[in-house]
Amino acid sequence: MLIAGLTGLEYRGYDSAGIATIFEDAFQVRKASGRLCNLEEELHKHPVSGHVGIGHTRWATHGKPSVVNCHPHCDHSGRVAVVHNGIIENYLELKEMLMRQGIVFRTETDTEVVAQLLGYYDQGDMLATLQKVLPMLQGSFALGILSLREPEKIFAVRLGCPLIVGSADGASYLGSDVSALLEYTRDMFILEDLEIAVLQEKGIAFYHPDGTPLEKKSLHISWSASAAQKDGFDHFMLKEIYEQPQVLLSTLKHYVEEETFTFRWDTLPFTKEQALNLERITIVACGTAYHAGMMGKAMIERLARIKVEADIASEYRYSETMSGEGETLIAVSQSGETADTIAALRKAKERGHRVIALTNVIGSSVARESDAVMYTLAGPEIAVASTKAYSTQVLLFAVLAVALAQLRGQITAQESADYLRELFSIPGKVDAILDCRPQVEAFARQQISCKDIFFIGRQMDYYTSLEAALKLKEISYLHSEAYAAGELKHGTIALIDDSTLVVAIATQEKIIEKTMSNVQEVVARGATILLVTSHPELDGAGIAERWLVPQGRDLFLPMLTMVYMQLFAYYMALQKGCDIDKPRNLAKSVTVE
Ligand code: G6P
Repeated sequence: MLIAGLTGLEYRGYDSAGIATIFEDAFQVRKASGRLCNLEEELHKHPVSGHVGIGHTRWATHGKPSVVNCHPHCDHSGRVAVVHNGIIENYLELKEMLMRQGIVFRTETDTEVVAQLLGYYDQGDMLATLQKVLPMLQGSFALGILSLREPEKIFAVRLGCPLIVGSADGASYLGSDVSALLEYTRDMFILEDLEIAVLQEKGIAFYHPDGTPLEKKSLHISWSASAAQKDGFDHFMLKEIYEQPQVLLSTLKHYVEEETFTFRWDTLPFTKEQALNLERITIVACGTAYHAGMMGKAMIERLARIKVEADIASEYRYSETMSGEGETLIAVSQSGETADTIAALRKAKERGHRVIALTNVIGSSVARESDAVMYTLAGPEIAVASTKAYSTQVLLFAVLAVALAQLRGQITAQESADYLRELFSIPGKVDAILDCRPQVEAFARQQISCKDIFFIGRQMDYYTSLEAALKLKEISYLHSEAYAAGELKHGTIALIDDSTLVVAIATQEKIIEKTMSNVQEVVARGATILLVTSHPELDGAGIAERWLVPQGRDLFLPMLTMVYMQLFAYYMALQKGCDIDKPRNLAKSVTVE
């Protein structure tokens, strides 16, 4: 059961794994470096017993990935075992304090400090011990704790990192996201910061940080367990790319009436008054979600005529940016648990801004801490490299841009309906691009020896380029860069020669000729050109390959272009033999700063 749970969370990224069970008044601990299959092998050689246990996949922060450093960690006396997500920032100070008391440390990790502290103070009542120890910890944590003095219980508490518990059929479970628990229960409890859960066979008791009992409401998760299966695809990433037509449609239908092409206004986070009073929007996010945010900026500015900034969450959280009245922050996050995005939204709240979440995970931290939420209905995204979450995020920005434009009187109800009708044509067009998969695969095969890839485009095509380059880096480890096409000649063109592949994206009517001039500049330097365009008339000299994007309004074409780019990254990674769903060094959900 522990291994199955860890498998459900494998997509989050890790470099070692371990479990501990309680059996006959002792811990049975097994650990292994690398993939979960190594731990399974270890368990075949040295099986464990017990009906109370904790497991963990570690992504190294303090101390290298190794068997010694991997969790669970036990205290000096061997009576407490702990698994931990997050970072204990004051661990050195606490470690020195404990060492002065004669406690011997075995690992380089910050987590061992938690186990040692709990072991040092525990007199047999872990709930009381937690009340003493938790205030001593600075940083972030989600903890699963076993104590030999209370062998029928698991203690769970968190600060800043997600932790979910649930019980069903005479068993209780904890996990760092819903995927690990889906197989057992859909009714889950999401722990708030410093709330303590005590899990037992008969159910779960909740406590406030001061130890007084707490009543909690469960949240029903409608995702099916099978949504987290590969369904015959070789990789989750490919499956998720192929799910896009369907998830785009269900997301759209949630916000828009298909029969009338009108908004379901109660699903949108703005009233007319709020829309009219809006002076500025700031979008914050990390990674792929940030790239979706850039698309959001382009669409909202163009349609609703509101000033929009898109910022990287880790930058925004420390910025001294000028902020004004009437400002709204939109936090975009697939997982809803990205530490920097959460910090950015808290900063915006401190500044008095209204905060809107755009997320895929019901009940996630970003959703809970925001004033309003728009959910992408993409279902669980398992591959580390985001695809369907990205497309649905961009779609939601399109919905938001049209809605704001209508509310602010920039477009009429009829124009709004025309935009919405066009959005309903997107899923079918995505399907058409998916049919071009053999062409993408064949071209990727020809590029096997390619070392550098540049993606160029202007405006929204540049934003697509950024996401395309990121996808390729993430899963194929190929060096790739995105450049605003007009900027290339200001230095970077020096890198272009006949071994470079340049992917030129040209869908935006107004600037298409400009991008094509930039294409000629790189053709002249001997680069191989892949042109991705909605304009069939663009062809000719120096273009090695051309992929056609179905026609439509410029504003929505990036949603289509990106599907080619996802497939391209996938096939480049496939032929390089990379671990596509779990790329090296990456984590799906970055819950530490
Ligand atoms: C990690 C993932 C990326 C993701 C980013 C933001 O870096 O590897 O794929 O785009 O986090 O994640 P979020 O869940 O906030 O969208």
